[in-house]
Amino acid sequence: MLTVPGFTEAKIQKRKLSMITCYDASFARILAKSPIDILLVGDSSAMVMEGRDSTIHSTVESIASFTASVARGAENKKFVVADMPFLSVRGTRETATLAAGQLLRAGAHAVKIEGLTGNAELVRHLVESGIPVMGHLGLTPQFVNAFGGMKVQAKTQEAQERLIEDAGRFQNAGAFSLVLECVPSLIAARIASLLSIPVIGIGAGPDVDGQVLVLQDLLGFNPGFKPKFLRTYLNSEELFKGAFEKFHEEVVSGEFPNRGESYS
Ligand code: KIV
Repeated sequence: MLTVPGFTEAKIQKRKLSMITCYDASFARILAKSPIDILLVGDSSAMVMEGRDSTIHSTVESIASFTASVARGAENKKFVVADMPFLSVRGTRETATLAAGQLLRAGAHAVKIEGLTGNAELVRHLVESGIPVMGHLGLTPQFVNAFGGMKVQAKTQEAQERLIEDAGRFQNAGAFSLVLECVPSLIAARIASLLSIPVIGIGAGPDVDGQVLVLQDLLGFNPGFKPKFLRTYLNSEELFKGAFEKFHEEVVSGEFPNRGESYS
């Protein structure tokens, strides 16, 4: 299983890291048998699992519950990161520390924090308290209202300079890795070359140290969702529909269950 020191080792050895979101024990069990390096209990769970229109509906309690399910399914075979949800890092240092502790006790090995502005001291405090922190910059979905939508970030030179600075400040505060979401490839590549911690991209191009995707997007659960950065590896909707239709037909026709599937 990957560990925090293993992230830096992977970067030194130029071994790319794969991360997939996961919110439940069933998928965690399957992912535990896969070569995927990291399971992320993302606040995207609010959208994917709860049908919300943004991640701001995610709470510490919901992430803790999803994390506990993932940890039970993964049986300590995968490095699990849990998102610090909307506003959970913006109260007092004590409330944020207790929330992060709750996520670690639920089974996470680290927490992920969106945005650096106003959070650097907290990141340092958490790291010094034994809570590893993964940073998240670029399109940070908790800022969807401030950004005016889910848009590619760091398009101007000024924004790119700020992004480079924030990435460096995350590293200096003690973060062991950084997610960069929806930023131009060139700037992501520049940041990855400047930092000694791995940069894991989503919509950040190929020249970073790893990639992350939302599990349900990767599996094609929602064929209508087609951002430029997404590659789907399965047509799950078709596959599942076929299975459900067959089950229904066999129930209606009386073909299921047969004698062998019944108790005598
Ligand atoms: O919540 C999430 O799924 C994420 C990934 C998109 C990086 O933060």
